[in-house]
Amino acid sequence: MSNVVVTGAASGIGLAVAEACIARGDRVIGIDLDGAELRCDVSDPAQVEAAAVAAVDMLGTVDLVVHAAGVSISGRALKATADDVRFVIDVNVLGTMYVAHSFAGRMAAQSGESCLALVGSEHSIGVPHLFSAAYTASKHAVLGYADVLRRELPEHVQVTVLCPGLVATDLWRSQERRGPLHGGPREVASDAGALMAQGMPADEVAERLLAGVAAGEFLVVTHGHARAFADERYRLIADAFDRQAPAVDDDRYALGRLVPPLAP
Ligand SMILES: NC(=O)c1ccc[n+]([C@@H]2O[C@H](COP(=O)([O-])OP(=O)(O)OC[C@H]3O[C@@H](n4cnc5c(N)ncnc54)[C@H](O)[C@@H]3O)[C@@H](O)[C@H]2O)c1
Repeated sequence: MSNVVVTGAASGIGLAVAEACIARGDRVIGIDLDGAELRCDVSDPAQVEAAAVAAVDMLGTVDLVVHAAGVSISGRALKATADDVRFVIDVNVLGTMYVAHSFAGRMAAQSGESCLALVGSEHSIGVPHLFSAAYTASKHAVLGYADVLRRELPEHVQVTVLCPGLVATDLWRSQERRGPLHGGPREVASDAGALMAQGMPADEVAERLLAGVAAGEFLVVTHGHARAFADERYRLIADAFDRQAPAVDDDRYALGRLVPPLAP
């Protein structure tokens, strides 16, 4: 039996993870804007810290945190307003960092093994989400943040990033619940719902995430079609190096030499 905290636990992937954990006998505390044990807006660091204090109070120790709270916006990149961009960055990027600050430090101070599982996307690894540039950027940020965090945390705290493609959830409705700091609620087109309904079932994604966590994976991928985009991303990077900076033995400015702990 594990002690588990799930953010975004009232819907979609977070709800499916919470249900799967309960089914296998874990003690689970859900966090969400409402509809979960703890009410909390993850884009507010004081609320996240209060939720972490309450969760640890209830559970004693935390073995697994699955941070699935997140939002999306859609529309052409240059049509996005400052409120649109802040909404997706505050929740998806800053919210991820606040959850890590409040939970991973406590997990590091525990003696047993634990895991912080963050939710990126196939958009973290090279699939461009047309008409959702800020969302795509937010998911790159989650992966970049996690890749550093996992090297800074002690070995007994695992970091895992879920990178799914389309999942059948209510993510398309996120904007209906935008708070006053982000310009208030927005109407969303229901055709986005019809598209999302064709995604992978959330319980299948939850199962794959929990299997990946148990196997000690850093990346958990679920949708095979994303592989071609990831390969294309790395081909572009390799081509750029071949043409523009081919000297593999030139380490004069290498961070790994200048700052030894960062060596890969
Ligand atoms: N559905 C997909 O196709 C898909 C694909 C890749 C990644 N993701 C990611 O999965 C995660 C979960 O999304 P989902 O698809 O289950 O969507 P969802 O809308 O069904 O669930 C998200 C949950 O997060 C909660 N939430 C939103 N903002 C919050 C805030 N500020 N504070 C606390 N809770 C908040 C919502 O209330 C909701 O219960 C998100 O990070 C999303 O970007 C989803």
